Amino acid sequence: MNKKLRKAVIAGNWKMNKTRSEAKSLIEELKPLVANADCDIVVCVPFTNLETALDASKGSNIKVGAQNCHFEKSGAFTGEISADMLVEMGVEYVVIGHSERRQYFGETDVTVNKRTRAAIDAGLTVILCVGEMLEDRELAITDELVAMQTKIALNGVSKNELSKIIIAYEPVWAIGTGKTATSAQANEVCAVIRTTIEKIYDKAAADAMTIQYGGSMNAANAAELVAQPDVDGGLIGGASLKASDFAVIIDAASK
Ligand code: 13P
Repeated sequence: MNKKLRKAVIAGNWKMNKTRSEAKSLIEELKPLVANADCDIVVCVPFTNLETALDASKGSNIKVGAQNCHFEKSGAFTGEISADMLVEMGVEYVVIGHSERRQYFGETDVTVNKRTRAAIDAGLTVILCVGEMLEDRELAITDELVAMQTKIALNGVSKNELSKIIIAYEPVWAIGTGKTATSAQANEVCAVIRTTIEKIYDKAAADAMTIQYGGSMNAANAAELVAQPDVDGGLIGGASLKASDFAVIIDAASK
C-alpha cells in the first residue's frame, strides 16, 4: 500500500471543551504555528463554537468540523442538528460514530451508517470512528469487530463517495487514558481497516483511503505513530486543546 498516495489529516476533536472566547483564542494561537503545514488540518468543535471557529479560521489552512449530526433532514428531534444546518454555516467535516457517542448516547453501527449517509448526501466529509473496547482486545476480536464496524458504517456508500470519508481508528481503551496503542498495534488495525476497504471496494479505493489513529496521541508520540505505513494522521482529543502541542503533531504529520 502506497502511503504517498494519501495526504495526512490531523484533526482535533475538542469534545465538550472551550467556550466561544476560548475557541477564538485557541484558533488565533494555532494559525501562525501551522501556516506552513503539509497536511490537512481540521478542528472539530462543539456546535456552539462553529461560527466562531469558522470566522477565526477564515483565510487559513484550518478547516472546521462538527462532532455529530442527525440522519434526518429536519423534524421533531429535540437537541439534534442536521447535516444541512452544518453545510449552510460553511462547516466541511463531521465526526461520526465517536466511541463516546456509542458508549454514552446510544449510537449503534446502524445509526452510524445512517448519519454517515446523511452527512455525505449533504456534502460533508465524514471522519468515521471505529475501534474496540479493552474486553474486545482481550478476547482477540479486534480485527473482526473493527472490520464489521467499518462494513456496516459504509453500507450503501459508493466507491466515488469514499473521497468524502476519513476513517479514524480509535481503540476505546486508549482514549483519554494516556495509554496509547503502540505504533505497531495502531498500524496493524489501520491495515485491517484498509484490507476491509479493499474487500468491499478495490485496491485503488484502499490505497486512497485516509486512515487516522486516535487515542492519547500527543506531541511526544505523534511522530512515531504517523510514520507508520498505514497511519495517515490522527484524531486528537486532549492534545488538540493546546495550540503548541497540536502544532507539534501537525508538524510531525507534515514530514
Ligand atoms: P484523546 O486524544 O484525549 O485520548 O482523545 C482521542 C479521541 O477520542 C479523539 O476523538
